Amino acid sequence: MADTQKSATLTIGDDSYDLPIYSPTAGPDVLDIRKLYGQAGVFTYDPGFTSTASCDSTITYIDGGQGVLLHRGYPIDQLAEKSHYLEVCYLLLYGVLPTAAQLEEFETTITLHTMLHEQMQNFFRGFRRDAHPMAIMVGVVGAMSAFYHDSTDISDEHQREIASHRLIAKMPTIAAWAYKYSIGQPFVYPRNDLDYASNFLRMCFAVPAEDYEVNPILSRAMDRIFTLHADHEQNASTSTVRLASSSGANPFACIAAGIACLWGPAHGGANQACLEMLKEIGSVDRIPEFIARAKDKDDPFRLMGFGHRVYKNFDPRATVMKQSADEVLELLGVENNPVLQVAKELEKQALEDPYFAEKKLFPNVDFYSGIILEAMGFPTSMFTPIFALSRTVGWISQWKEMIADPQNKIGRPRQLYLGETSRDYVDIEKR
Ligand code: CMC
Repeated sequence: MADTQKSATLTIGDDSYDLPIYSPTAGPDVLDIRKLYGQAGVFTYDPGFTSTASCDSTITYIDGGQGVLLHRGYPIDQLAEKSHYLEVCYLLLYGVLPTAAQLEEFETTITLHTMLHEQMQNFFRGFRRDAHPMAIMVGVVGAMSAFYHDSTDISDEHQREIASHRLIAKMPTIAAWAYKYSIGQPFVYPRNDLDYASNFLRMCFAVPAEDYEVNPILSRAMDRIFTLHADHEQNASTSTVRLASSSGANPFACIAAGIACLWGPAHGGANQACLEMLKEIGSVDRIPEFIARAKDKDDPFRLMGFGHRVYKNFDPRATVMKQSADEVLELLGVENNPVLQVAKELEKQALEDPYFAEKKLFPNVDFYSGIILEAMGFPTSMFTPIFALSRTVGWISQWKEMIADPQNKIGRPRQLYLGETSRDYVDIEKR
């Protein structure tokens, strides 16, 4: 915990309470209210955690006003351009950029863990054919706790390390197999001579009858998508992982909880929802109608891929993603893709509209990612699983940080109770 030299005074009636203030290395000061209930007998009220720091962390920093995202201090645009996903994984997990030897060792370790226990195929086959791949991922990742007993003891640092490596390594295999199962194709086993992104593409698109030649530019674009989604500090799914693991639950169960949270359309599910929305709009002349709907308080419709709890200027991931969309579509010879045209025009018209400017709503990471993924051949149902596999390293890094923190205690929020007070039970015949 940071040192404090400042404090704030809270006055309730005739009583005053001193609350320590911590200054972070970057970002706003933080008021420590941990002793408030014990001293003053009051709770704080912050649904949605809009003003609450749930933990201290050294992993990721976001300055939403400036559109800055740093992993261990390194800006996301530099990492997206100069680094690659497994190096970023190392950085997030261990706090430093690896030397060449450390990176080689890490890549080898991850590569050697990519296969799934053969009996896990039975889990996939237990799902209905039309199951959403996210449903399969939640189930299969949770089920890993039944297969990898030697990495579920969270008090053992070595077991935590093995669980981390297994999750990063096996998640592409799980996501690819969830896809293969949903389209009725045989599972494709990982290949150790391929890099992380190429391996994933091949497991998704190869069939026994015909191998898949990995295009290095597409593999690079895939890797960049993984990198851009790798971590995002205390977002909903990461906080879910932290809360689940605060009870001492095993890492596979906790990551399954994170996947479940990510699925929602306000979070990772937005990439699927965004592409579906762009297709529903269909042509640029229908954009004003959808912008009007997004502004209408009586219409629940929102522009998917727009807005963010933290970014109030621009989402730096969206900038890289837009550039990537242009590159990939040009490579594939589909630069006149009608969905891309609708997306670009929608972005332009929304940014010129006072409603979006006043509420500081900008395209987020999900606005352009679906266009790239679809151009690569992925169905919309695979967009969120790809987000989940990318974010796994972020969840694990935050989980590891939390378990190693001596201040770690079970997460247990309080409430503002507005229900009935005590009343006597009424027998059923008298109601
Ligand atoms: N379209 C239209 N209006 C919007 C939108 C939008 N996409 N987003 C926010 N608003 C309005 C909202 O109606 C509210 O207006 P008012 O103040 O008049 O009530 C105001 O902006 C603030 O919205 P909020 O819901 O209080 O803000 P939040 O911080 O709780 O929500 C958000 C953030 C991302 C959930 C929200 O912007 C949203 O639903 N966006 C669409 C879904 C989306 O793209 N999600 C992906 C987020 S980035 C990747 C990830 O996290 O996984």
